[in-house]
Amino acid sequence: MKFQLMLAPMEGVTVNSFRTLCHRNGADLTFTEVARVANLARLKKGELEKIGISNSTPTQIQLAGAKITEYEKFLAGFEATEGFRGFNLNLCCPSPEFIRQGIGAAMIRRISRVNEISKLIGKYGFECSVKLRLGLDDYEKGRKAYINLIENIDASFFAVHAKTAKQTSRERADFSVYARCIDTGKRIVANGDIRTKKQVAELKKTGLFGAMIGRAAIGNPKIFRELRMD
Ligand SMILES: Cc1cc2nc3c(=O)[nH]c(=O)nc-3n(C[C@H](O)[C@H](O)[C@H](O)COP(=O)(O)O)c2cc1C
Repeated sequence: MKFQLMLAPMEGVTVNSFRTLCHRNGADLTFTEVARVANLARLKKGELEKIGISNSTPTQIQLAGAKITEYEKFLAGFEATEGFRGFNLNLCCPSPEFIRQGIGAAMIRRISRVNEISKLIGKYGFECSVKLRLGLDDYEKGRKAYINLIENIDASFFAVHAKTAKQTSRERADFSVYARCIDTGKRIVANGDIRTKKQVAELKKTGLFGAMIGRAAIGNPKIFRELRMD
């Protein structure tokens, strides 16, 4: 399978038109911004708008939430449209509100719950991928919380944003973690600070499944075409 280039989920950015533009410029897969399952289960209009897929652009819907009953309610009423390619679980959002509620990056350690959710999504016949950080902080990173999760969850791929939830967007992603992630035998997608062809060439050699690009695509959706060129 060819090395996958993905457009990262970005709140307020990865709307239908932007996803389509990036796909036309070489992004193999795109993501909606994060939507809260609690709100989707209650059919909140604003939240439902976040997950609308208007055309055939390959798109995964990103979900954040921990309550099985809410996932059940949402999935029972969900109808897939043309571009839909499955769900992506958000185990990466560092916002204090998410962390307080035990969702986003706080779910990296909630392995049995993540397992239940991914199995439930599978039961409906949908693909389930995961986007995670390395842990809440350096302590969790040191304890390899991310490896524990990757090893114990069945998901189509794991997009690893190579920072802890405590790190700011200005701190560099730690590319050295990918080798151990790849050793698990699972499909690993690198994310964080990827902008150049040289980086992609190096990452490709390591056995990664793909690379996910966020900020570098804002204002330059052609970046996928540029990174693809040999
Ligand atoms: C404006 C903005 C909004 C974001 N919204 C989300 C989101 O909804 N879900 C998510 O998983 N990550 C979100 N992220 C994080 C990105 O998906 C990505 O992990 C991060 O920007 C690192 O990749 P980059 O260095 O290529 O930008 C957001 C990032 C930005 C800049």
